Amino acid sequence: MAQTSSKDAFVEFERVQKSYDGETLVVKDLNLTMPKGEFLTMLGPSGSGKTTCLMMLAGFETATHGEIKLDGKPINNIPPHKRGIGMVFQNYALFPHMTVAENLAFPLEVRKLGKSEREAKVKRALDMVQMGAFGGRRPAQLSGGQQQRIALARALVFEPELVLMDEPLGALDKQLREHMQFEITRIAHNLGITTVYVTHDQTEALTMSDRVAVFNDGRIQQLAPPDELYEAPQNSFVAQFIGENNTLEGVVQEIRDGFAVVRLDSGEVIDCKPVNVSKAGERTLVSIRPERVEIDKSRLHPDAHTLKAEVLEFIYMGDIFRTRLKVAGRDDFIIKTRNAPDQRRLQPGEMIDIGWLANDCRALDA
Ligand SMILES: Nc1ncnc2c1ncn2[C@@H]1O[C@H](COP(=O)(O)OP(=O)(O)OP(=O)(O)O)[C@@H](O)[C@H]1O
Ligand SMILES: [Mg+2]
Repeated sequence: MAQTSSKDAFVEFERVQKSYDGETLVVKDLNLTMPKGEFLTMLGPSGSGKTTCLMMLAGFETATHGEIKLDGKPINNIPPHKRGIGMVFQNYALFPHMTVAENLAFPLEVRKLGKSEREAKVKRALDMVQMGAFGGRRPAQLSGGQQQRIALARALVFEPELVLMDEPLGALDKQLREHMQFEITRIAHNLGITTVYVTHDQTEALTMSDRVAVFNDGRIQQLAPPDELYEAPQNSFVAQFIGENNTLEGVVQEIRDGFAVVRLDSGEVIDCKPVNVSKAGERTLVSIRPERVEIDKSRLHPDAHTLKAEVLEFIYMGDIFRTRLKVAGRDDFIIKTRNAPDQRRLQPGEMIDIGWLANDCRALDA
């Protein structure tokens, strides 16, 4: 059936630009469409425009150009408190003079709900974050993780259709952060809430999201599900920002039979999958994931290219071995091998042959 994407769209950014000073654009021509119920993460380095996008969606900043729509309707002129959006920010403090229950009841009072309805909803929200016994405490009497749960409950208590979260777990330790990542996605999916989540932690983005928008310099570099982002990065920024990645520099010799033949600066010639190179003479960054590198010749395709490598460092990491090699003039080439009974533990100084499938080696922009 022919259904237009905009019919299913719940959140839409159409050609949105933002400048704070009237000169530099911190958000450049942003297009983004989210269906209802999606968990989307904005991931990117500091200053790339993530918070600015959330603030425009929340209504605390206005777009300089373009339009933002919620459920098909432009929201540019709707004030923040009428957008029905729940928000959790890293330093979005709870009201210190109110108890936990009063903090949660506040958004309901603003929305003029009656007392019994307020109490029922507060109880439900507290139970949802497993804080049912804490309604009478004040924020100062809670741990950081508990406060963060209350902030989450407060954002959800009025049952918003859209929740925005900006680095909500930044202040928590690793264990609690992982637990909360799980809690947040569980609650969002159970309630069918559409979520825009901001982080600069790529593991968090990959594990929590339906799709991830990778931001850099005010633009979305790639918008894709986590596995696609990792397996098929569209440019060298995304390849290097997401996961660990080896790069080798070279020049495209020719494009033949769907492959780019690349002469590395060190002289070797290898076949690569052409991702964003298109013609001979172009400089390219060739990108290969550490776990795609094969050190066992018998497991390589007979006509796979191999390169000579010198083992520089062998690191035992428990489940995997991480080995640093000198390859094609670089001494930062990393390979990862699984810790299996028959897996070789390479010795520093050893010379080995390494290889990979041409399809696992991507020729990207230099
Ligand atoms: N209120 C403001 N006035 C002027 N410039 C601002 C304002 N807020 C943000 N900026 C600038 O806009 C750019 C994008 O900032 P933004 O806060 O959106 O980045 P971010 O991706 O959220 O970064 P971080 O990961 O550090 O939070 C930055 O260069 C920042 O200095
Ligand atoms: Mg930010």
